[in-house]
Amino acid sequence: MCGIVGYVGGRQAAPILLDGLKRLEYRGYDSAGIAIHNCRHTNLIKAEGKIKVLEEKLGGAYPEGCAGIGHTRWATHGRPSDVNAHPHTDCTGDFMVVHNGIIENYQELKEWLQSKGHVFKSETDTEVIPHMIEHFYDGDLLEALKKTISRLEGSFALGVISRREPGTIAAARKSSPLIAGLGEGENFIASDIPAILQHTRKVYILEDGEMVKITKDSVEVYDFLGTPVAKSVFEVKWDAVAAERGGYPHFMLKEIHEQPRAFKDTMAGRIFPEKGEIRLDDVHLGKDYLQNLKKIFIVACGTAYHAGMVGKYIIEKLTRIPVEVDIASEFRYRNPMIDKDMLVIIISQSGETADTLAALRESRKQGARVLAVTNVVGSSVSREADDIIYTWAGPEIAVASTKAYSTQLIALDMIALYIARILGTMPDEDAKDIIAAMKKLPDQAKTLLESEDRLKAIGQKISGHQDVFYIGRGLDYPLSLEGALKLKEISYIHAEAYAAGELKHGTLALIEEGVPVIAPVTQEHLFEKTLSNIKEVKAREGYVIAIANDGNEEIKKSVDDVIYIPKTHPILSPVLTVIPMQLLAYYAAVARGCDVDKPRNLAKSVTVE
Ligand code: AGP
Repeated sequence: MCGIVGYVGGRQAAPILLDGLKRLEYRGYDSAGIAIHNCRHTNLIKAEGKIKVLEEKLGGAYPEGCAGIGHTRWATHGRPSDVNAHPHTDCTGDFMVVHNGIIENYQELKEWLQSKGHVFKSETDTEVIPHMIEHFYDGDLLEALKKTISRLEGSFALGVISRREPGTIAAARKSSPLIAGLGEGENFIASDIPAILQHTRKVYILEDGEMVKITKDSVEVYDFLGTPVAKSVFEVKWDAVAAERGGYPHFMLKEIHEQPRAFKDTMAGRIFPEKGEIRLDDVHLGKDYLQNLKKIFIVACGTAYHAGMVGKYIIEKLTRIPVEVDIASEFRYRNPMIDKDMLVIIISQSGETADTLAALRESRKQGARVLAVTNVVGSSVSREADDIIYTWAGPEIAVASTKAYSTQLIALDMIALYIARILGTMPDEDAKDIIAAMKKLPDQAKTLLESEDRLKAIGQKISGHQDVFYIGRGLDYPLSLEGALKLKEISYIHAEAYAAGELKHGTLALIEEGVPVIAPVTQEHLFEKTLSNIKEVKAREGYVIAIANDGNEEIKKSVDDVIYIPKTHPILSPVLTVIPMQLLAYYAAVARGCDVDKPRNLAKSVTVE
């Protein structure tokens, strides 16, 4: 996610802003910028790259001024570049804005503003905001912001300064975090507590639908209608390290809890239930091309490969195009039979995995079109693919992938629907049902996360075992592969996943009294079959933990424990079922005293073969 810092007070703003941005670097970013206002004018400096590039641009001479805003950008719309970095300005340079989030309706706003003569410089969604404020400004910055945000759709945490109102910062929050810091003769705004913790421990945590106007001596909070809101002061007790994790003990747990927001952002501006439509701006697969498509390959490593295996089931079901899934390190050496009538989907959170990048290059060399699913704008994979879908999950810091995996599944759901709608391989009503169910996933994930305590207890229970098995049928099988990987890579427990029907062909020999077996049974058309496999395990006195859809009472009779997930469309179940698996693995690893965020022997991005 992007980082925001703002300051108004009696001290020079530039060093305070730069230091605050450095304390947000853990969030990941690709460019940075600051705007400093003194009595006469506003200095705007921004640069692609790390903050030290920005400092080099400043040449050691900080612009003077006691008010300003700063930003570190995690690109979503528009590649990393100087011009796409924040702050963004309007036509006159009177208004400067920093923003974290996604403005879903930015294209229509941009067209409307351009029709009124506004000239845009960047490729970003954010730039519509200063131009909207310019349009509405009539002597009151907060009023102009209020009118602007009433027309924005999507998520935003934003800060505005203007030379029209020196010594004032206006800010607003909807779905992206924002706080106001309360100092002595100085006040702050920030995306996150670490940015201002050295200056004050007194903050207002802004809620969705709240605006704030700060000066050096005042912090006034309002709702989006302009009604004053009384806020209580939150006293920060965390140290700097805990603050970076938003108070969570590990980045992994923080990122598991960020999934509802990541789902919402990844679907933002892309799914339209009322029309049953999918809009993928950076994907250009035409009807003729798709009608001639003979095969789809999905190629990736690790967790991304497991997402690809789920994608195979879904794309084949909705489009009836054959899909072959390959581990990237195998794909490039097996002399794959690829030609121009084949599409290769490359999945990579980092967009830098060496084997996956090599598979992309091999595919293109053999004439195939490449569609990339990646979480990092400007990554190598994103630059070399023909088409791209970004999972707007925000930076994933923990080595074990969680929110990237689940948003990869959502991206693959969107690809399957996108192709099926163009080829007409599914009825409108079915598409509308699935897309309507997708809209509910963020809230359903939030509900699931509320049952964390139960998962903590189960995770602690399995932490004492050396071997754990995962079994599933249909979509629950590739999902089990991901559950097993999560457990083994952070808790070092030996975990294996099997197609439930395969257990009796050998692995059942390893099941003995008390051995934990995790059994997702979300695919109701396969329930009876999987139930018989579960009974095979119980006959050997294994300890079975089922993951079932809400309302499935029958499963209780046959297993030792049941974790329920909210009911959704069967093809979307993996997006929710993976969450309890992530939490089980997390709490098992914590119980074993493992280094959850940085497991032994592993790296976040494997950029070597
Ligand atoms: C997942 O928890 C692991 N960290 C690892 O398997 C990872 O998914 C794999 O290395 C692929 O990384 P990528 O998605 O960045 O290409």
